Amino acid sequence: MKVINRITTKLNRFAQLSNDSRAAAELSRLGLPYLPWSDASLLPSALQVVLNEIEINSRKTIVEFGSGISTIYVAQILSRLGGRIVSFESDLEWATFVENRLAALNLAEFASVVHAPLGPCTLSKNGLQWYDPVIVTTAVQNLSIDCVVVDGPPAYSAGYELARYPALPAVQEWLAQDYVVFLDDIHRLGEQEILRLWANLFGIKFLSYFSKGNIARGIHGVAQFVV
Ligand SMILES: C[S@@+](CC[C@H](N)C(=O)[O-])C[C@H]1O[C@@H](n2cnc3c(N)ncnc32)[C@H](O)[C@@H]1O
Repeated sequence: MKVINRITTKLNRFAQLSNDSRAAAELSRLGLPYLPWSDASLLPSALQVVLNEIEINSRKTIVEFGSGISTIYVAQILSRLGGRIVSFESDLEWATFVENRLAALNLAEFASVVHAPLGPCTLSKNGLQWYDPVIVTTAVQNLSIDCVVVDGPPAYSAGYELARYPALPAVQEWLAQDYVVFLDDIHRLGEQEILRLWANLFGIKFLSYFSKGNIARGIHGVAQFVV
């Protein structure tokens, strides 16, 4: 079993490299200037899965937790297709950076970065901090959300494994009948537990893209096309 797991991991790594270079080539067609991709950013192949979903299944109202390069690419694609992304960010300086880049690219009409500091949240597991629920509720209350992208808050340190759990319960009231949710970093045990909890709570079916940046795509209701 261990040998099979090791072979699968190696094969996934090769597939990951190939998927990332194909995705990077496609992303370069979107006409954006240089953007500072870092280890914190979604991998190109994971971002491509998200953008494919928005384009193919006509997602228009996107809510994101954890802003960055992903926010800018989503805004760029929405500038052609129509729609809007509301992205929550806990770090004020990073929120300002992303907001300034969006403005410089004339994308402010399609994206808002909402600074929401981390603090107590009744929906959290293990007393972990989450985005200020009052700020989140105020920003989403008139929306009918058909796409949620969960890539924050940071959850890589020991003890923070379930930090991203509140995302779906917190916006539950404003989810459209048919929606998709993405969770990044599903190679980690904490994110795998979050997928199990959300699947049970919301009746969502998840597909895990281990060779496309370790992102999971969960569908509630109808999604006409595969991505
Ligand atoms: C996983 S990152 C979110 C990345 C974002 N979704 C993207 O694809 O670019 C989670 C948090 O790390 C922080 N962060 C992201 N990029 C960063 C950078 N280049 N330097 C420092 N912090 C960063 C932000 O606070 C962000 O919300």
